[in-house]
Amino acid sequence: MIDALVYPTARDAAAGCAQAIADAVNEALEQRGAARIALSGGSTPLLMFEAMRTLDAGWALTDWFWVDERCVPPDHELSNYSAAARHLLEPLNVPAARIHRVRGELPPAEAALRYEEEILAAFGGEFPVFDVLQMGLGADAHTASLFPGEPLIESRDGVAAAVFVEKIAQWRVTLLPGVLFEARARFVLATGADKADPLRRITRDDLNPLRLPGQLLLAPLAPSRFFVDEAAAVGIEQC
Ligand code: 6PG
Repeated sequence: MIDALVYPTARDAAAGCAQAIADAVNEALEQRGAARIALSGGSTPLLMFEAMRTLDAGWALTDWFWVDERCVPPDHELSNYSAAARHLLEPLNVPAARIHRVRGELPPAEAALRYEEEILAAFGGEFPVFDVLQMGLGADAHTASLFPGEPLIESRDGVAAAVFVEKIAQWRVTLLPGVLFEARARFVLATGADKADPLRRITRDDLNPLRLPGQLLLAPLAPSRFFVDEAAAVGIEQC
């Protein structure tokens, strides 16, 4: 089963996801006095950042993390931090102390270790329970930087790790499944015709997250809400 909200366009889906994030952040601040969110990268979140900028929420009081990051310097065009900083965090005047980026300029294993330490420090040494994880889905059904065949998909206790993605010959740092499962909310933004096939495969094929990592988002312990446009929803309707 997939909990999906279908919108006419990618812009509408991004706005729906942005509103859900704003509501979750405000609720976390009201109820627990802190809000911790991790963003995904790639191109899909750009429209969502645009929508988030127009919404009134406790953005400056929120602690910002990343679901995954490419191992590049922070000013690199591939840096997920850079995209979020330019399109979201700087326009919203989020204080630097609230921004917990992956240090992609370091050797990957060190970047992962430093990131894990920074997360644990922000959660008082406890296993992290994020208020919101904003997730994406790749055309090959990867989520976070957990690509098909990645053995860490079976890990349940780690927080973050460096992974080498062979198909694009790139090191990345990613949150691990145990963290995905523990989060209070997972909002998956998947728009465009190239997301129809992975949506169809994760919902229709037998459960095998090692082959289809996006199925981690459908685990009973970790239900997620999907925000999709009509082009992507074709995949769900085929199920
Ligand atoms: C990244 C991601 C990644 C992303 C999907 C979808 O760094 O690339 O965080 O997991 O969510 O690859 O990417 P697109 O939005 O570019 O399709």
